[in-house]
Amino acid sequence: MTKFKLGLIVGSNRRESINRALAQALGQLGADRFEATIVRIDDLPIYNQDLEAALPDSVVRFKAEVEASDAILFVTPEHSRSIPAVLKSAIDWGTRPWGQNSWTGKTAAVTGTSQGAVATAVAQQHLRAVLGDIGMVVMGGEAYISFKPGLLDDKHAITDASVRAFLKAFLDQTTSAKARFAQMVLDKNMKQLQQATGTMQFQRPGKFRWEYEKPYEQLIVGDGARLWIYDKDLNQVTVRRMDKALGSSPAALLAGSNEIEKTYDLTNLGNQEGLDWLEAVPKSKENAFERIRLGFGQNGLEAMELRDQFGQATVIKFASVERNPKLLPDAFNFTPPKGADVISE
Ligand SMILES: Cc1cc2nc3c(=O)[nH]c(=O)nc-3n(C[C@H](O)[C@H](O)[C@H](O)COP(=O)(O)O)c2cc1C
Repeated sequence: MTKFKLGLIVGSNRRESINRALAQALGQLGADRFEATIVRIDDLPIYNQDLEAALPDSVVRFKAEVEASDAILFVTPEHSRSIPAVLKSAIDWGTRPWGQNSWTGKTAAVTGTSQGAVATAVAQQHLRAVLGDIGMVVMGGEAYISFKPGLLDDKHAITDASVRAFLKAFLDQTTSAKARFAQMVLDKNMKQLQQATGTMQFQRPGKFRWEYEKPYEQLIVGDGARLWIYDKDLNQVTVRRMDKALGSSPAALLAGSNEIEKTYDLTNLGNQEGLDWLEAVPKSKENAFERIRLGFGQNGLEAMELRDQFGQATVIKFASVERNPKLLPDAFNFTPPKGADVISE
């Protein structure tokens, strides 16, 4: 199978550009899943409509490379709180001559780095508006990377595991998933209280189906508005509003929007047992969990560890993960079976 072709466009023409180094590192990070190449813009002339009569060779090459890419990742600095002129000029070349827009329908993702604290946030917002306007499909997810010494090593590998994990998730852009899971509940002395296995599916935003097979059959369905919990043995259904239940189940966290960093403070825990761990501590005290740890490996999210207010820990390992599969809409609907007790909370 040919690999997905990702064009990396760096919004800087500086020889020692930190954004080019970051783009190279991102390309390496996803090397198992896509073929990333830098689409050069530093050799393009400043856009001038007079040059359209005989397009410069560099422009012809640039447009062909954009057209050959399945998606484009823009990695850009911020200049005077906006898009660097060199990048805007390249974008304009891509749209021209009239009727030969090279960007139409291509998927775009945006990131960038600067030494500043807000790290290119304003430039990224401006860029998103422009990309939407020229017919690109701009992906959600935001990554503002504050460039600090040591972020990249001399081989352009990202050294900071939290940035790695976050960017991996960002690049993965998982909108739906299906996996088997094994879940263990441990008390505060790490004594195992329960073990369960089953399957889970989610479809962002907000829909999930978490199905326990053993030791008891239990089905948890989030239909986007309500959270249904069905205990088969008791023939009992509990239903509550999803906005109230959000954060109270690992499924709800996974199926939520990509804005995890708005609800949680994230910290890097480094690499342990082959996974890059990220810790998410809820900003609100009302969350059922005190902290959640997410373990990222080759297959994306491979493990989760959730600790509640009473010191109990839930450890979940995922296997046979399918990312972005087609899921049946019925999986996210629930109708209480005849005769079941329905309790509304
Ligand atoms: C003309 C100019 C304007 C800049 N404006 C901003 C800015 O608005 N925000 C910011 O975070 N950094 C700003 N910077 C600093 C850049 O972030 C810094 O030079 C960075 O290294 C540029 O990325 P590069 O190394 O990939 O070229 C500016 C730099 C230049 C040269």
